[in-house]
Amino acid sequence: MNKQNAKNTHSLYDVLYAASEDNILWGTKPGRLIPLIPELTKGRTVLEAGCGDGKNALFLEQNGFTVTGFDSSNLAINGLTNRFRRANWLPKGNYIVANLLNPIQLRSSDVLISYGVFHCLPELSRIEVHRKLQKKVALGGLVVFTCLTNKLPLPEKHTTQGVTLAGLNEITHLFDGWEIEYCDEGIIVEEHYPIVGQHYHTAIWIIARRVNR
Ligand SMILES: C[S@@+](CC[C@H](N)C(=O)[O-])C[C@H]1O[C@@H](n2cnc3c(N)ncnc32)[C@H](O)[C@@H]1O
Repeated sequence: MNKQNAKNTHSLYDVLYAASEDNILWGTKPGRLIPLIPELTKGRTVLEAGCGDGKNALFLEQNGFTVTGFDSSNLAINGLTNRFRRANWLPKGNYIVANLLNPIQLRSSDVLISYGVFHCLPELSRIEVHRKLQKKVALGGLVVFTCLTNKLPLPEKHTTQGVTLAGLNEITHLFDGWEIEYCDEGIIVEEHYPIVGQHYHTAIWIIARRVNR
């Protein structure tokens, strides 16, 4: 685990990672769209932006994918290391502390996972930043995406100052020119004990395929 672009490597989620045992914050299972990936692509390279504590990366490595993951939080990458160690799984991929808002060198991949990072980016520039990331997906490849939406407000004391909930128009714009293979909206229940306690968010889940150069 190394640092690619050292400045601005803190995260909006650091308070929550710091309060979690072994910095493992995001539960025991991969995100709900992740198990669909092996059926949707023959490609085996994955880039995960904001990979957090590695709940998706571990599943994908165990299913034969080569994963490159980065997160702006060194606590998140520490959590990922701990998660892999607990699972007795030696990481085969490359996991680094790097901030998407800084210059970052990324290889093209068959799948981009953007799971919960879009709502962390600055509202005014995030479409541009994220679409630049989407360009790293090979033709015919996938973006597997989720973010929090603004149908419910953030609970008070969520401690993630700087998270801005996304509107549906914004998400539609983000995937202009992409083929949407899956789209669902719903409510998720999170806990983040002992800091926040049980609370609810609205979210959207999308799988989009790159059909244009
Ligand atoms: C909601 S968490 C999701 C973590 C992981 N993707 C998952 O599904 O379990 C969002 C993650 O994005 C990271 N993040 C936020 N802003 C970022 C940025 N500008 N560059 C890289 N990572 C960022 C946070 O540190 C956090 O780990």
